Amino acid sequence: MSMARSAAVLVLGAVLVLTSPAAGDVGVDAMPRGGRKMMGAIGEARGVVVRYFAKGANVKAAAAAAPPPRPAPAPAGSPDQFRGQPRLPRFAAPRRYDLRLRPDLVACTFNGTVAIAVAVSAPSRFLVLNAADLSVDRGSIRFRDVAPKNVVIFADDEILVLEFAKELPLGEGVLNMKFNGTLNDQMRGFYRSLIVSFERVLFLSFIYLVPFDCSKYQYKGKMKNMAVTQFEPVDARRCFPCWDEPAFKAKFKISLEVPSELIALSNMPVANESVAGPIKSVLYEESPLMSTYLVAVVVGLFDYVEGVTPEGTKIRVYTQVGKSNQGKFALDVGLKSLALYKDYFGTPYPLPKLDMVAIPDFAAGAMENYGLVTFREVALVFDEQSSSESSKQNVAITVAHELAHQWFGNLVTMEWWTHLWLNEGFATWMSHLAVDSFFPQWNIWTQFLGDTTAGLRLDSLEESHPIEVEIHHASEIDEIFDAISYDKGASVIRMLQNYLGAERFQKALAAYIRKYAYSNAKTEDLWAVLEEKTGEPVKNLMTTWTKQQGYPVINANLKGDYLELEQAQFLLDGSSGPGMWIVPITSGCSSYDTQKKYLLKSKSDKLAIKDIASQCGTRDKGGNFWIKLNINQTGFYRVKYDDELAAALQNALQAKKLSLMDKIGIVEDAHALSMACKQTLTSLLRLLYAYLEETDYSVLSHINTVSLSVARISFDATPGLVGDIKQVMIKLLLQPAQKLGWDPKDGESHLDAMLRPVLLDSLVRLGHEKTINEGVRRFRIFLNDRNTSLLPPNIRKAAYLAVMQNVTSLNRSGYDDLLKVYRKSAESEEKARVLGVLCSCKDKNIVLESLNFLFSSEVRYQDAYYLLQGIPVETREIAWVWLKKNWDLISKIAGDTQVGGLIRYVVTLFTSNEKAAEFSSFFATRKRPAFERTLKQSLETVRINARWIQGIRSEPRLAQTVRELLQRP
Ligand SMILES: *[C@@H]1O[C@H](CO)[C@@H](O)[C@H](O)[C@H]1NC(C)=O
Ligand SMILES: *[C@@H]1O[C@H](CO)[C@@H](O)[C@H](O)[C@H]1NC(C)=O
Ligand SMILES: *[C@@H]1O[C@H](CO)[C@@H](O)[C@H](O)[C@H]1NC(C)=O
Repeated sequence: MSMARSAAVLVLGAVLVLTSPAAGDVGVDAMPRGGRKMMGAIGEARGVVVRYFAKGANVKAAAAAAPPPRPAPAPAGSPDQFRGQPRLPRFAAPRRYDLRLRPDLVACTFNGTVAIAVAVSAPSRFLVLNAADLSVDRGSIRFRDVAPKNVVIFADDEILVLEFAKELPLGEGVLNMKFNGTLNDQMRGFYRSLIVSFERVLFLSFIYLVPFDCSKYQYKGKMKNMAVTQFEPVDARRCFPCWDEPAFKAKFKISLEVPSELIALSNMPVANESVAGPIKSVLYEESPLMSTYLVAVVVGLFDYVEGVTPEGTKIRVYTQVGKSNQGKFALDVGLKSLALYKDYFGTPYPLPKLDMVAIPDFAAGAMENYGLVTFREVALVFDEQSSSESSKQNVAITVAHELAHQWFGNLVTMEWWTHLWLNEGFATWMSHLAVDSFFPQWNIWTQFLGDTTAGLRLDSLEESHPIEVEIHHASEIDEIFDAISYDKGASVIRMLQNYLGAERFQKALAAYIRKYAYSNAKTEDLWAVLEEKTGEPVKNLMTTWTKQQGYPVINANLKGDYLELEQAQFLLDGSSGPGMWIVPITSGCSSYDTQKKYLLKSKSDKLAIKDIASQCGTRDKGGNFWIKLNINQTGFYRVKYDDELAAALQNALQAKKLSLMDKIGIVEDAHALSMACKQTLTSLLRLLYAYLEETDYSVLSHINTVSLSVARISFDATPGLVGDIKQVMIKLLLQPAQKLGWDPKDGESHLDAMLRPVLLDSLVRLGHEKTINEGVRRFRIFLNDRNTSLLPPNIRKAAYLAVMQNVTSLNRSGYDDLLKVYRKSAESEEKARVLGVLCSCKDKNIVLESLNFLFSSEVRYQDAYYLLQGIPVETREIAWVWLKKNWDLISKIAGDTQVGGLIRYVVTLFTSNEKAAEFSSFFATRKRPAFERTLKQSLETVRINARWIQGIRSEPRLAQTVRELLQRP
């Protein structure tokens, strides 16, 4: 699945920053990842004895070491023995599904039949498969024409156990059954999404999101339901009974019965279609071997644009009716991606067609279903008139990400969810490789450091987890669609590629894809191929990064002619964990011409400076001496320099000697070290000031995030100084902002266009009067003329934020105007943009009103998190009271994917241990596996901030430094 890049900083909320660095515009960059789940009855079945995996193994070991599908001893006894297992037993496996579905879009139900060719490999009287939230017609079940003597459904385990009177014959037989279910509104399984015919949107905007009640289909003709599937990770079982694990690959032959006037899509092209009055039957070609989580069906009304690859593969992008033009950009990126991946992997795109579809209600960013990729609308459509520059980039990255999955994920699939990172880390990394090749001027690898930062942030918590994480129950899977699987995953791949070299790496990956095509692989399988093809000790090196949580900080100390290096696990709470890594160290001395690369394998080591570079400048004052470790931040670690090295680097920075990525690395490391109280805020402020003349988008995005974090923490740490600290931040950002101005310049670069909103948004948030007034002025003009050139989509959010700064309960006209903009807009991006600012207000009543807006019929569930992102620290208490009071409703609306995020947005606004204790006790009785980890991470963050505050308060020179920086010319 996809989430957009640099959700990063936001997602983690580690420092309570209000905006993400690359968050040029709407919150699309903070897309929730992963499938959404509403916890039903599942969740209680842990810790039960495992019967299928190695003797005496506990659940933990079983999950990690579960064998691939192969014969296992057949059990005797009762159906009960199948309860409480993390995985299905392996003595029977599906080979082919013949699946027939008939959705009823008016009644919001569906029914279906499935015929599964099952291979039985060990003697047994049972068949065990997954099913959840389905009514299975017990009387219809037959295996080899024999009815089971007993059918048991274990709802907690989401399994269906069929017990037969006699042992099943070995070999292949067909299992038949009928079932039905509800087209739900939870954005998972087989669900309904609401479409409005485009030309009517303006009239309907007040009512069109009435949570759809199928019994009152009163808007028939104007609004319609569509039916969509979202199966990753474990929701195929909510649509049809199946062996719902990635390793049970099978072929799928799907057919649909749908209203004749609708478009019906599935993974494969149509083989046959016949219309019988109002209903048509559509039969699709049989798929190659694939996992259940990639099966997909979409039934609705669309327009499309189409392209064909040189190999003859048809690609279509489906959009709302009347908006097919907005699919052109995605189509172009799609065509280019297929060509690039075909060459990179040395394997053609495996299917005869590829469809990409914009879905109005969608929990994640996008989903890579084989041959039928589904997207949240904002991640697929791009319109020159109404989309921002950051949306364009987001579309490119998301399309490239999902299409990389067609190879990495779909053709070669992770063996179990423990290896999810193989899918997501690689797709994230590949999408940057692809976009860098299509749009070299975007500097996307420099932007990638936003992803790396997100990974580093989350992984500096005690409550992080290893990349390869044990899964004990299906309900835990949603939570690992996080910055560890995506961002740390992608970052350690970049580190490895850098170590092995681009060409060797590509050849080995292509070999891996060929070797495991149409089957499954584990992390070790990839290492084995890489070792074989490169002769390097890949497994030993990488295991320290994927099986162990956390990462090191390298302490670098200059001692005479030697550089001493020592590694220790970096944790934001200031402690140092037990971890040890094999660290690919790169370093440069006084220039980038000669670089040293080597592996730090022990706790500490010592390098002769003359070995780093023969010409290393003189260390005297005024000399050109500096040492930078982790060149271009390709390594997943931080560096803490001693005072001499740090001062030399700051000089090099000011003398503009350092690469963009190194500049980012230096400020990010300093920020993290400051949070961990390993370095003073005073020195961080001085360092920030060294970036005064910076002009680059990526660097300034990081400067911006760090600045907002510092402003935020000073609110609690040094209330008397917060005004002055904000002034320092304004000083830093104002210069580049003035250079760019509000209006786009002819022919300006993509990166300048991206930078403008970052700077303007922050200046508004920091309270810069002139920027706020200008934003308000432009908004007024925009209200009267929606096509004014004074407020293009790129800078609209800054203006909206400016308007919100002046809103109070007594002076709410700006607020009402924004609601009008929201209601009149037909674009998802515009709606998201408005939702993203409605809470950015210091008036408690307004914030409360905005939060309650979430419960209105005007906000789609998928958009809940946009609203909660913008809460300012001044109104955090109101947000917490609101969350407590409405918890039941909120947790229902947010579903399993979003609920963790919503908790995090509110909880991490706080910075005291007392508050952490209060949260802890509130959630003690409300815990669910779907957000347990996120909650712990959020509480840890609150405590880290409390500690940071104590540290800041004891800094003697802070006030003096702030004043000094303010007074500098
Ligand atoms: C499915 O429902 C349709 C009506 O919606 C009905 O005609 C059909 O017989 C049902 N099929 C099964 C297998 O129950
Ligand atoms: C769904 O299946 C159940 C059990 O087989 C049956 O009782 C019910 O009538 C079915 N409902 C629909 C709408 O077909
Ligand atoms: C660092 O990255 C920049 C920009 O991508 C690149 O031009 C440069 O060659 C890299 N430097 C090193 C030493 O790899």
